Amino acid sequence: MLEKINKLIEEVESFGASTKEQVEEYRIKWLSKKGEITVLFDDFREVPNELKKELGQKLNELRTKAQDKINALKEVLESQKDSGQSKNIDLTLPAFPTLQSGSRHPLSIVKNQIIDIFARIGFTVSDGREIEDDWHNFTALNTPENHPARDMQDTFYVSINPEMVLRTQTSSVQVHIMGYQKPPIRTISPGRVYRNEAISARAHCQFHQVEGLYIDEKVSFADLKQTLLYFSKEMFGAETKIRLRPSYFPFTEPSAEMDISCTICKGKGCAVCKQSGWVEILGCGMVDPKVLENCGIDPNKYTGFAFGMGIERIAMLKYQIKDLRLFFENDVRFLKQFTSA
Ligand code: DAH
Repeated sequence: MLEKINKLIEEVESFGASTKEQVEEYRIKWLSKKGEITVLFDDFREVPNELKKELGQKLNELRTKAQDKINALKEVLESQKDSGQSKNIDLTLPAFPTLQSGSRHPLSIVKNQIIDIFARIGFTVSDGREIEDDWHNFTALNTPENHPARDMQDTFYVSINPEMVLRTQTSSVQVHIMGYQKPPIRTISPGRVYRNEAISARAHCQFHQVEGLYIDEKVSFADLKQTLLYFSKEMFGAETKIRLRPSYFPFTEPSAEMDISCTICKGKGCAVCKQSGWVEILGCGMVDPKVLENCGIDPNKYTGFAFGMGIERIAMLKYQIKDLRLFFENDVRFLKQFTSA
């Protein structure tokens, strides 16, 4: 019997397996009810007392070794399966560690939606500059030096050249476009803007805007309203209402601010709309004839409208995000939530 046990110990020690089935086969061979080790334990009862001690220890050693070996092999095979090393290996997969595929930032998602909506009614996309001269950011837009409207936006000036600023608004792109393109002009300009603001849940020193500009013969305020109504319904749903309130911007006359019916409470009143049922989303108006003139366009022949909106604001309303800072912190737990959008 001792010989048999020693032979089995050797077999157990040298045993290796490359499939789960082989491991199971051996478990049955050794440890099942009729397995060799179990049978040996049955035979053990017949062993004379003086041999029991030595044989018993050996038998226990065998059983433990067999059990340990089976467990260890199972574990190895299981972990190989998890890391893709089982029989069906895909050699085209990237090597470990694999990079998780990313997703678009919520601001990019919303920006692309805005571009899509305006593209459907014939608006192209134009680019401007983030470091801008005083003329494009202010003066050409009817905001000369010492004009009180300059105080509406706290400006970052470039220290080595105070004529240059980090643009405070994408309205500056209007001036570029009108400088190189003759009407009809129908374009939107998304981009980053900067203001010297204290960072909080509602304000940041950098954010994103989309500027819209439409210049042609006989463009009217009714065209502006219709365009913005179309945009609002496409962006926030067909039931969305808009209202325009008189306002002031130096580069439009008349000027207005536009509200949409609150997307959260549908106009009934809630914390987001401060119980008013309306939330402001953009500024707009008819391009001031002086601005057309500054940009070399004949104000007697052409009229136009313009509008500007904050992308963060639209995204916050669309996704019910309460803190502006989340857009800039790049916390993966926040960004992950937009993977399917
Ligand atoms: N530039 C303005 C701002 O940043 C927004 C704006 C208002 C843009 C009226 C326009 C406009 O084109 O017509 O507050």
